[in-house]
Amino acid sequence: MNSKIKCKIGKDILKAKELLDKGDIIGIPTETVYGLASNALNEQAVLKIYKAKNRPKFDPLIIHTSSLKKIKNFVEYIPEKAIVLAQKFWPGPLTLLLKKKNIIPDIVTSGLPKVAIRIPNHPLTLSLLEKLDYPLAAPSANIFGYISPTNPKHVYDQLKEKIKYILDGGECKIGLESTIIDFEGDEVIINRLGGITIEEIEKFIGKVKIKKKDSIPNSPGMLDSHYAPKKNLYFVNDINDALEEFKNKKIIVISFYKKHKADNIIEDYILSLNKDLKEAAHNLFKYMREADRKDIDLILAEKLPDEGLGKAINDRLLRASINKDSKLWKITKN
Ligand code: TXA
Ligand code: MG
Repeated sequence: MNSKIKCKIGKDILKAKELLDKGDIIGIPTETVYGLASNALNEQAVLKIYKAKNRPKFDPLIIHTSSLKKIKNFVEYIPEKAIVLAQKFWPGPLTLLLKKKNIIPDIVTSGLPKVAIRIPNHPLTLSLLEKLDYPLAAPSANIFGYISPTNPKHVYDQLKEKIKYILDGGECKIGLESTIIDFEGDEVIINRLGGITIEEIEKFIGKVKIKKKDSIPNSPGMLDSHYAPKKNLYFVNDINDALEEFKNKKIIVISFYKKHKADNIIEDYILSLNKDLKEAAHNLFKYMREADRKDIDLILAEKLPDEGLGKAINDRLLRASINKDSKLWKITKN
C-alpha cells in the first residue's frame, strides 16, 4: 500500500462518504470498538480491509447498516428469535448471523452461507450509514491479532500509513466488541461473548447455548490467541499469588477494583473502583494498550466475577494471555 498516505482524523461525514463511495477504507467509530470500513458490496474495497489489517481471508467480516428494512435486502430470511433480539437491542452491540443473499460478496463471509450483520449505536456512524446506499464491512480497526481500538488515536497508531481518514466519534462507550449470535433450527448459539450479556439475551428468548471455541477453528475471533498485547499477559485468579511468583520482574497489574502493593509494580490499573462491570469493560482495552507501551516484563490481569459483562471481559483476557498450561494458569483455573 502507498506509504505516503496522510491520515486525517475528523468529524466530516461527507468526506467519509466521498472516500467510501470511491472504494476507499476508513476508520469509523461504533459504541463497541472502532471499525475499519469499506463498501461491503464492492469486492475490491473489501479486499483492501483484509490487506490493511493483515487479516487472513478465512476470517469473515461483519457488515453494518442502519435499518432492519435495509437488512432484508441482504439476507434470505430472519428467524423469529432474531427479530425479537433485533427489535430489543438494535441499534446496539448485537451481531446476528443470517443466511445471505447473493448480493453480499463471498469475500465478506469467507465463502460461508451466513453473513454477520449489525446496526451500531453511534450517532456519527448511524448518520453516515443512512446516507449510503450500501452496507459497510467493518472488522475492528487493529492489525490482526492485536487489541481492538477504542478511540481514534488507537486506530491512527496502527493504520495511519494505510488509511486516509478516521471519523472521530470519541471514546467508544462500551469498549468491548459486539455479541455474535447464530441460529440453528430453534437453537440460539452465542458465537462470541460481547457487549450484550447472556442474561439480557435469555430474558427475551429463553435459554441459549455458548459455542465451544474449538468447534469453529476457522474463526480467529474465537481462536485462543487473539486480542493480545505484545507483552506477556498472565490471567490469574489471585494477583497476590502471582506477585509472589514474579518477584524479580517489572510488572503492570490490571485488577478489577483493588490496589496492590509491591516494589516491582510499575503501574496498577484499576478497571472500576466501584466494581462496575460496565466501567471495567470500557477501560479494559485502553489499559491493555497502555500497559503494552511501558517498559515492563509482564502484565498480570485479574479474573473478574464470571457474570454479566464479566464473562466477556474474562473471555478477552483469557485469549490475550500466554502460558495457559503453566503453573500460574493452573492457579487461574481453580
Ligand atoms: O463490535 C464489533 O463487532 C466490531 C465493530 C467494529 O462492529 N467488529 C468486530 O469485528 O469485532 P471483527 O472482525 O474484529 O470480529 C468479527 C468476528 C470475527 O471473529 C469473525 O470470525 C466473526 O465475527 N464472523 C464474521 N462473519 C462471520 C460469519 N459469516 N460466520 C461466522 N463468524 C463470523
Ligand atoms: Mg477484531
